[in-house]
Amino acid sequence: MALIRVNSLEKTFRLKTKRFKALNGMSFEIEQGEILGFLGPNGAGKSTTIKIMMDLIRADSGSVEIAGVDSRNPEAKKNIGFMPENPQYFDTLTGFDLLIFTASVFGIDKKQASKKAWQLLEEFGLKEAAKRPIRKYSKGMIQRVGFAAALIHEPQILILDEPMSGLDPIGRILFKNKMKELNEKGVTIFFSSHIIPDIEDICSRVLIVNKGKAIKSLTREEIKFMTTTGFNVIIDRCIDELNCAKISGNLYSIESKKDELIAVLKRIESYNVKIVDIEPVKKDLEEVFVELIK
Ligand SMILES: Nc1ncnc2c1ncn2[C@@H]1O[C@H](COP(=O)(O)OP(=O)(O)OP(=O)(O)O)[C@@H](O)[C@H]1O
Ligand SMILES: [Mg+2]
Repeated sequence: MALIRVNSLEKTFRLKTKRFKALNGMSFEIEQGEILGFLGPNGAGKSTTIKIMMDLIRADSGSVEIAGVDSRNPEAKKNIGFMPENPQYFDTLTGFDLLIFTASVFGIDKKQASKKAWQLLEEFGLKEAAKRPIRKYSKGMIQRVGFAAALIHEPQILILDEPMSGLDPIGRILFKNKMKELNEKGVTIFFSSHIIPDIEDICSRVLIVNKGKAIKSLTREEIKFMTTTGFNVIIDRCIDELNCAKISGNLYSIESKKDELIAVLKRIESYNVKIVDIEPVKKDLEEVFVELIK
């Protein structure tokens, strides 16, 4: 059974006389234990969907169920760690205060909260800055304290809206490792991102959205295979009749399109050469994404 069900969300924003349909039948499911990436161009409706999932705004129609509970029921959020797209924290609070405040919202006792807060602040490289007000934090530090706050109650589900935007490469690696580590412990993670390599690195599945609806779901394995455009067949001597390219020494390569590999192998067979390797030729997930959006 799916852990989260997003059912046919519709949302139109009204600005004076103008109307804009941000969600147009957004539907998908999130399975227990997956890391699902939410990928789509600017304005596709990712943040709107996430805000509805967190009951920060209401859909015109459709529903979201979290572990069988309607997302409009506060019970549904008890087990979720959430990071909004542009966090606006009370910036006179220190990083430590923010974590303690968040812990109190979840009813965690002070002693336990303090222990967990220091542990998280250390993990996210904020120990030195823990007692500084958040208004003095850099963008990356705000992202870090936001992620730490999302983890204070040890949630089993994480919903993160562009968690890695504004982070330096060290911060991105830290976040990705933390996400992988939590996922290995059973935490289900749903996050939006524009950074395709980050999605490729950690997601078990990617959901591609455009114009207010989910248009394609691709598992890690499907991505791996659908980015293959052809093969390089590596052989141990040149065959003049076939289009060979020298690699080095006695190694030569013959290019084959994805659906012509069998024909190429059959042609090679009659020349009594040794096939050393067959390497897939890949295109970027970015190209696949652009083709799907088009
Ligand atoms: N409060 C609002 N009032 C009016 N229009 C809005 C509001 N919130 C979102 N929109 C519009 O709804 C559409 C979807 O916005 P949303 O923020 O969900 O996109 P997104 O996929 O998160 O984009 P991005 O990748 O840029 O974060 C956009 O065209 C946006 O302008
Ligand atoms: Mg957004």
